[in-house]
Amino acid sequence: MEIINRRQRMSSVARKIRREQDRTIGLVPTMGALHEGHLSLVREARRMCDIVVVSVFVNPAQFGPSEDFDKYPRDLTKDTALLTDYNVDYIFAPPVEEIYAKGFASYVTVEGLSDQLEGASRPGHFRGVATVVTILLNTIRPDFAFFGQKDAQQALIIRRLVKDLAFDTEIVILPTVREDSGLAISSRNLYLTSEEQTAAGVIHEALKRAKAAYKEGERSGGRLEILVRSTIELEPRARVDYVNVIDADTLEHLDRLDDRPILIAIAVYVGKTRLIDNTILNKAKKKDASV
Ligand code: PAJ
Repeated sequence: MEIINRRQRMSSVARKIRREQDRTIGLVPTMGALHEGHLSLVREARRMCDIVVVSVFVNPAQFGPSEDFDKYPRDLTKDTALLTDYNVDYIFAPPVEEIYAKGFASYVTVEGLSDQLEGASRPGHFRGVATVVTILLNTIRPDFAFFGQKDAQQALIIRRLVKDLAFDTEIVILPTVREDSGLAISSRNLYLTSEEQTAAGVIHEALKRAKAAYKEGERSGGRLEILVRSTIELEPRARVDYVNVIDADTLEHLDRLDDRPILIAIAVYVGKTRLIDNTILNKAKKKDASV
């Protein structure tokens, strides 16, 4: 395994693999502090591709001025040890100046999909994500890039970006990995005290209740939102930022639910830590429709 810090070196290594060796490249973009969620993406990349590149870059452009960029957990030594066990070929870990050089002025915006949910709560966030993903895809030109359903809106935006700007990369989205308690695994879970960890279990509980209510015939988006919100509010350490029942493809608000894929997306503060989670109703139908 090689750790690459320079963009030019990364490009030339990837070019060689593609041209001279005719092998497929899989990219797993991350911000490090790797956990089982990231590793599930790495495992699938390893299964599908000849060469696996994991990028580790805490991207300043996707953090707001009052967010946790400085505090975000960084431990490249530990990440490297984990990725060695997974037989990763390259870690691309550039310093900030290597991605955003002096005079950097070109940003990528995916309109519409970036405005609501996380985009409304974190202005500029998805512009930062779309910009860095564009740079990574252009640098490495992978055959496949792997993302998690945990960040449902991000996954949709990246699919849109790749389609609209004609990137020659297939996007693979993989399911959310959870703790035994149901809590979605996240690098930000490290900020939680053990009491908060337990309290955060209410997020998955609320999603499960909404799923059950839908299964039993509830077809009002508004009532499902209230059910999720009131379940979370029973936990005194938790404070809802948003709960949205929306079309899983367009993110449009749905009042009357039918059998199209429906995304329930939520963001909750547990103590000072902001956590997101989601579930999709009618996922199987979505799969059937695409066959
Ligand atoms: P990061 O939060 O490090 O996540 C990297 C990838 O891991 C994302 O695709 C995310 O959806 C996925 N992931 C995180 N937790 C997961 C879980 N519990 N189960 C499954 N997948 C999970 O997302 C980012 O970084 C950044 O925005 C990035 C795309 C790297 C651009 O900077």
